[in-house]
Amino acid sequence: MPFYPPKAGTASIIRSEHLAMLMMDKTDLFCFSPTGGTAEVGRTFADAMADVVEFVDLCRNETVSNPGDGVAVFAAPVFAGRLPPVAAERIRSIDGHGRIAISLVVYGTRAYDDALLELNDILAERGFTVIASGAFIAEHSIVRSVGSGRPDGRDADDIVGFAGKVLAKIGRGDSTVPSVPGNRPYRPDFVASSHPTTSNGCTLCGRCAKVCPVGAITVTDEKVVTDERTCFMCMACVKACPERVRNLPAPVMDAMTAKLGPLASVRRPNETFLRRQRPYPAPASPGPWTHPASRASSRSSGSRGAGSAPPTDSP
Ligand SMILES: Cc1cc2nc3c(=O)[nH]c(=O)nc-3n(C[C@H](O)[C@H](O)[C@H](O)COP(=O)(O)O)c2cc1C
Ligand code: SF4
Ligand code: SF4
Repeated sequence: MPFYPPKAGTASIIRSEHLAMLMMDKTDLFCFSPTGGTAEVGRTFADAMADVVEFVDLCRNETVSNPGDGVAVFAAPVFAGRLPPVAAERIRSIDGHGRIAISLVVYGTRAYDDALLELNDILAERGFTVIASGAFIAEHSIVRSVGSGRPDGRDADDIVGFAGKVLAKIGRGDSTVPSVPGNRPYRPDFVASSHPTTSNGCTLCGRCAKVCPVGAITVTDEKVVTDERTCFMCMACVKACPERVRNLPAPVMDAMTAKLGPLASVRRPNETFLRRQRPYPAPASPGPWTHPASRASSRSSGSRGAGSAPPTDSP
């Protein structure tokens, strides 16, 4: 099992002052983060794990310069309870060759539904051994009052504390694969229900086109053109626009705000998974295992529990 060796020996419980002693030399952080929340969580985690972090920007479809066999960290956002399809596709192109991996999904307070399970399934298919997983909160990239300011200092404490537990697990040589919440089959693939448009005041600066992970934007001498077949509503261009003239259509924003706005007062806790709770992969019968928290959030947020009706598009 190709562990990247921790600098010091083993420790069953890590106290924060011991974290530095256990840190690895290097880790690769494979990150898909259109508006930066996932990257913040991923970087905080990876920086607590290793002295050197190679940031592999999956929004730019980058590849790792020197993969080696060290621990890999994967961080991806949740779109409608799944991974964004382009993120899934890019992660699916990376070979694991038995490498140890840590999976992180980052979501905007509503729910992460099947996204973490989907990420772990892809990593297992690609030959990674996922030994720890986490679901962390960031600002909701569409309705930014939800989870506003997160990840914050308390989240950073959670993330660094989780990194300590992961280092301790690696130090013990424990490569058990944890079980995570979610259902198979997953919720339907995410399909964008709308696309940002550009209103008056655009300076044709081109920043929106530069940050678009899928090259859906062309800036001509006169206007900004969006290829709606390619755009997956990731909000990167909206966040990057210095003139704030790039936005989802007002009726769409009104509907999203009406639906998600009440979550602005909710502080959803981060969750981490280090231990196997059921055989993995989950058995086909009697039914897919669902984490109790996921069942609770299904009831409260309209996401799907096992056997219920298929969901509508739920960001
Ligand atoms: C199209 C879309 C769908 C989303 N779906 C969900 C969702 O199902 N549940 C949730 O809690 N947050 C959802 N969010 C919020 C993002 O998961 C959250 O803002 C995340 O931090 C975005 O990552 P980024 O900052 O790296 O871009 C969605 C955001 C977008 C743009
Ligand atoms: S970032 Fe904003 S101002 Fe710049 S080209 Fe795009 S829409 Fe126009
Ligand atoms: S055009 Fe669409 S895919 Fe490209 S950055 Fe904007 S929202 Fe994301």
